[in-house]
Amino acid sequence: MAVSIKEGSIAAEIADGVFYNPNMEFSRDISSLAISSIPEKLIVCDGMSASGVRGIRYAKENDNVERVVFVDMDKKAIENVNENIKTNKIEANSRVVEDDLNHFLYRGGERFNFVEVDPFGSPVPFIRSALLNLRASKSGYLSVTATDTAVLCGANSKACQIYYNSKPFHNSFCHESGIRILLSHIVRIASPLKLGIEPIVSLSKQHYMKVIVKVRKDAKHAFETIKKLGYASYCPQCFTIKTSTNPYLEKKCSACGHQTEWGGPTWLSNLHNSENLDKMLAENKNREYSNRLELSKTIQLMQYEDEFPPFYYDIHALVDKIKISPPKFDTVIDELMSKGYKVGRTHFSVTAIKTDAPATEVVAAIKGAGKV
Ligand SMILES: C[S@@+](CC[C@H](N)C(=O)[O-])C[C@H]1O[C@@H](n2cnc3c(N)ncnc32)[C@H](O)[C@@H]1O
Ligand SMILES: [Zn+2]
Repeated sequence: MAVSIKEGSIAAEIADGVFYNPNMEFSRDISSLAISSIPEKLIVCDGMSASGVRGIRYAKENDNVERVVFVDMDKKAIENVNENIKTNKIEANSRVVEDDLNHFLYRGGERFNFVEVDPFGSPVPFIRSALLNLRASKSGYLSVTATDTAVLCGANSKACQIYYNSKPFHNSFCHESGIRILLSHIVRIASPLKLGIEPIVSLSKQHYMKVIVKVRKDAKHAFETIKKLGYASYCPQCFTIKTSTNPYLEKKCSACGHQTEWGGPTWLSNLHNSENLDKMLAENKNREYSNRLELSKTIQLMQYEDEFPPFYYDIHALVDKIKISPPKFDTVIDELMSKGYKVGRTHFSVTAIKTDAPATEVVAAIKGAGKV
C-alpha cells in the first residue's frame, strides 16, 4: 500500500517497494537551502531519485531550479516519480529516466550543473561520471551522500583504504575525519580532470555524511585544490593532533613521546562556504520546515567551526580515557578562554569543542574544571 507523506513544501505518495527514509528529511532540507544559496540557474540531475521527493522539493522550493531530470534504475521508482511530479505540477520542467546513473551521466546526452548522488552506501562508484558530466558544463555543483559511515569512520580501516584510498581514524573525531576523507576522495577524482573544488556545505548526522561542493574546470584551480590535501597524526596517549601537507609525520608524539597514529590523505581546508551558509541561515527563516530550529542551530555551528583547525576534542571521550568524572562543559570552555585560547562548539558532536589550544591545555582544563 502506498504511503502519503508531507515534507518541506510538498506532498507525495511513496509506492510500495520504493525507498523513502523519513530520517533523511533534514538532509533534503539542508540541501534545498544550499540550492537556494547558489546564485546560478540550475539544471539538476536527481541521480538516484527513488520516489523523487528530493528533486521535487528542489524544484518547488527554489526559483533558481529550471529543470530536474530524475534518474533511477528501478521501474517501480520511475512509475512513482511520474505520479509525484504530476501531483506536484512540475511535469513541464521535468524528465524521468529509467537507467543506471553512471551510464546516463556518461551517455545520456544531457549536461547538468547540479548533480545529486544519493545511493545506498558509498557514493564512490558514481563520483567520476558525475564529475565528467559537470566538466562538460565547465562548472557546477556536486551533491553527495555517503551512508557507509562506519567505513569512513575507520571501523574497517582496510575497507576505507580500498574504497576511498585513505587511511581513516577510528577515534572520537572520526566523524569530521570521515567527511574530510570523502572530500579528499572527490578532489583526487576531480584533479586529473582539471577540476578544482570548493565545499559549500559539509554535514555529518546520524548514519550519513553529506557534502555539496562547487566544481570548476581550470587546471590552476585544480592544482590549488590538490595542495589542500594532507595528512594528520594523533597521539592516543596525550590526544595531540597534528596536520601536515607533507607525509612525513611524527612517528613519536613531540608532546609525550608515545607512538602516534596517522591518517590520510585528507582534506585540510574549509568544510563550508561562509557566504552560502549566511544565505542558508537567512532563507531558513522564510521556510516552514519542521526542522527549522535544528537547521538554524546546525548552520550556526557550521559558520563558526570553520574558523578552527581541523578536528576536535570530544570532552566525554577524553574524560573516559583520563578516568575522571565529567566536568561542566562551560567551565572547560571558560578555563581555556581565560588563558587566551579560542574555543567553540561543532556540529559534529554535542560533547566536543574545537580550539586552537594544544591537547595538553585541553586536558589541564578538563582536570581543572572537574575539581570545581
Ligand atoms: C537511497 S535511495 C535514494 C533516495 C532518494 N534520493 C531520496 O532522497 O528519497 C537509492 C536509489 O538509488 C537507486 N539505484 C541504485 N543503484 C542505482 C544505479 N546504479 N543507477 C540508478 N539508480 C540506482 C535505487 O533504486 C534507489 O531508488
Ligand atoms: Zn602524546
